[in-house]
Amino acid sequence: MIPVSLEINGKTTDAQADPRTHLADFLRNQQYLTGTHIGCEHGVCGACTVLLDGVPARSCITFAVACDGAQITTIEGLRDDPIMADLREAFAANHALQCGYCTPGMLISCRDILMRLPDADEARIRRELSGNLCRCTGYVGIVTAVKSVQQKRKATGASAIVMCKTLGPVGARPSREGGRAPAVRRGSEAAPSAPPLDQTAPVSAQQWRTVEAEGVELRQSFQVPFARDVVWNYFEHLDRVVRCMPGARLLGSPVGNRAEGEVNVKLGPFVSAFKGIAEIERDPSRHAGVVRAMGRDAKSGSNARAIISYRLQSQGEAATQVDVSVKFLLAGSLAQFGRLGLIKDVADHLTRVFANNLKAALSGTLGGNDSDKPLTAGSLAWLALRGRIRAVLAKLRPRANPITRSDRFDSR
Ligand code: FES
Ligand code: FES
Repeated sequence: MIPVSLEINGKTTDAQADPRTHLADFLRNQQYLTGTHIGCEHGVCGACTVLLDGVPARSCITFAVACDGAQITTIEGLRDDPIMADLREAFAANHALQCGYCTPGMLISCRDILMRLPDADEARIRRELSGNLCRCTGYVGIVTAVKSVQQKRKATGASAIVMCKTLGPVGARPSREGGRAPAVRRGSEAAPSAPPLDQTAPVSAQQWRTVEAEGVELRQSFQVPFARDVVWNYFEHLDRVVRCMPGARLLGSPVGNRAEGEVNVKLGPFVSAFKGIAEIERDPSRHAGVVRAMGRDAKSGSNARAIISYRLQSQGEAATQVDVSVKFLLAGSLAQFGRLGLIKDVADHLTRVFANNLKAALSGTLGGNDSDKPLTAGSLAWLALRGRIRAVLAKLRPRANPITRSDRFDSR
């Protein structure tokens, strides 16, 4: 058994969990929160949906120990939530349930739709609900219920509830509404049905301000054994930098400060190819630069926007520290992959690969087309898992100076 500390429905809970216990069993069998139902146990039916750091998540495919530090909200924790109160009423009025087995997960997903997508039409509501299966109702009553609450909220002037701050510690994002279940922005304006990016259109300043204000932030630092000017000159050539990034490639030559590219990622069941554009700015006086990139994975309909800022700091004549900050917003179905701890693990790995490739490139030993290899499920999933296992083992060992949660998420 492994100690796990999380906040469930606003209450700090310290417990022990078997590493194989999934969150749904943990909630039902150890916390006696039986409102979370279990149907398929394969992540398909949505009956087990809970809010994990404010985002709907499948508790049957989430390990309880992986939620250490997270904020969990079950259907019981939404008893006093005003949107949920409206939804309960609308479900009853519109015959949106029969046996009720799907209902807790369905209600949590409906609430998420109402918060994120206040203007969703029926087709969009149905698409958003496609991850919650109901064997009884035929969905008509459910969709009608959502629309009726939507109308009610519109009449009161309610708009999209947007909430997403910097990364971690997991569970540290407070609710803007003061409730226990924060609504995390997953890109309400950039959703699965968003049109393909127009790669010739200028990217609006507002789009980047949104990423700045609401994006998840990761910070990384690494050193390379070369003088700052050498590294700075190398960074001038985007095609060379891209060669150091696994899974990334340019689609043509940069035009001015703008380039088109593609990033291929395979992670578990997710296979994605984000195609998009990047705009680059450099500030020689500070040896700093910013890359603003946005891309869309046509297959999953997921969109990503990222602002990558870097700064080179001289560490003597033959060493440079590279400080990188990445702020990103991920929208669409791939956002469900967004367990922040896992993203952090993957980002750590990518930084290491990039740093090693950069060193090899600067010393002229970077092999053929290293960047053409996609980020593969095997390597990423294993590295992420290995990081998790190490963290769990470290937790079992007594520590002289225990790290804080915020330490875990700031690698600088
Ligand atoms: Fe979790 Fe079906 S029980 S998705
Ligand atoms: Fe029975 Fe949905 S009401 S499964």
